[in-house]
Amino acid sequence: MKNIVIFGAPGAGKGTQSDFIVEHYGLTHVSTGDLLRKEIADQTELGKRIKNIMDAGQLVNDDIVVEMMDKAIAADTKGMLFDGFPRTVAQAEVLDKLLSKYGRELTCMVQLEVPKDELMRRLLERAKIQGRADDNEATINNRLQEYNSKTKPVADYYAKQGKQKLIDGLGTIEDIAARIRQAIG
Ligand code: AP5
Ligand code: MG
Repeated sequence: MKNIVIFGAPGAGKGTQSDFIVEHYGLTHVSTGDLLRKEIADQTELGKRIKNIMDAGQLVNDDIVVEMMDKAIAADTKGMLFDGFPRTVAQAEVLDKLLSKYGRELTCMVQLEVPKDELMRRLLERAKIQGRADDNEATINNRLQEYNSKTKPVADYYAKQGKQKLIDGLGTIEDIAARIRQAIG
């Protein structure tokens, strides 16, 4: 059973490539961003608490996403693709513990590498089509800052475990999907 993390900056293509990976390996896709946006759309108590934080492009509290992930792993039987989680070293440490609690282990972490100007171009393009609340230039800059200060160290965490697969995230969506399949094996 595979359990994979897809990792990268905002706009790197995590969600886009997740579709190909879950299809190819028969995994359950879990995106913390999608789960949190659903809480906001449903106007739950949690949604009301996190709306301003997400609109500002900041990370929500580790405890909130960890609880969501614990439930998601407990409910899964196929193996999982984690998209947008872990985003801090503390979350990465908890993921290892959670997987081991359910008798699993992380297979690898797939890291999409995309330069900043292309990230900005993609997200501003998506803003015109989808209108996601955090896709505007000021908030994208905050998201990139959060990524650089809090999330990037997670890459070293997996490099030290020998689980990091670096993928060139530039090119056509199909070419990148093929690179990822080759790296996962
Ligand atoms: P989240 O939803 O995870 O957003 P993100 O990381 O900012 O990344 P995106 O979803 O914007 O980009 P993506 O990498 O998925 O790229 P995509 O495939 O969409 O998180 C949102 C917020 O939730 C956070 O800011 C935080 O507040 C909170 N949050 C979530 N998880 C959390 C956690 N674990 N802890 C704490 N807080 C958390 O592609 C982007 C665009 O580019 C699309 O339009 C796509 O069509 C296009 N595109 C994709 N590939 C290509 C390509 N090869 N060429 C050209 N265009 C492409
Ligand atoms: Mg995404």
